[in-house]
Amino acid sequence: MRGMISPSLMCADMLNLRSEIEKLDRLGVDYVHLDFMDGKFVPNITLDASLIKSVKSVLKNMKRDIHIMAYEPQNYFDRMDVGLGDIVAVHYEACEDVSKVLKEIASRGAKPFLAISPDTKADVINGYLDIISGVLVMTVYPGFAGQPIVDGSFEKIAEVRKIIDESKKDIILEVDGHVSWDLCKKMRENGADLFVAGSSSVYSKDVKLEEAVNRMMKLIN
Ligand code: DX5
Ligand code: ZN
Repeated sequence: MRGMISPSLMCADMLNLRSEIEKLDRLGVDYVHLDFMDGKFVPNITLDASLIKSVKSVLKNMKRDIHIMAYEPQNYFDRMDVGLGDIVAVHYEACEDVSKVLKEIASRGAKPFLAISPDTKADVINGYLDIISGVLVMTVYPGFAGQPIVDGSFEKIAEVRKIIDESKKDIILEVDGHVSWDLCKKMRENGADLFVAGSSSVYSKDVKLEEAVNRMMKLIN
């Protein structure tokens, strides 16, 4: 699978979101990463559900990559208008019955991704390989942009890659958290396919978005 990027909208210029989204779409980026938080599963709040829904009306080719850091994420699917083409990642740690939630995502025509926080072992994904379209490996503790990478993240990516390859299923491996210029190549070498680009790369200061996107695409392909 070729390397793909998913720039994280919570790191973009919040006062100009429409033009930020349109710019990404024009650049041919595959996904826009939309972080939703409930202030409970993680101690922060970012983009709200109605904003995530509105993003849909602006997109031409790009798809939504919705990362829900909230307990019982299914409560927000209607408000976000989850449907065809979306990636929807829900946390293993945040659901009473994660299989049921993943199946509901699939029944809406969206791609169910299982997100795992740094303290969750890679092998928990074994129970869900028949349902999921992707695994989202968090390489920082979820909740805030601009954090350092958690120790052991490369090993974790490699472990998830091995499980996916052995399953022979078409499952995307996404990485989120401190995906920097320096580290994205090593993440790629360890098996990541989809890279959430935030404050340590595409949205770092004094870089033009077009150059930043091209630079990252070169590093991972
Ligand atoms: C963190 C979010 C990330 C965040 C990544 O909880 O899920 O999407 O935007 O940003 P950086 O690249 O700054 O770690
Ligand atoms: Zn995220």
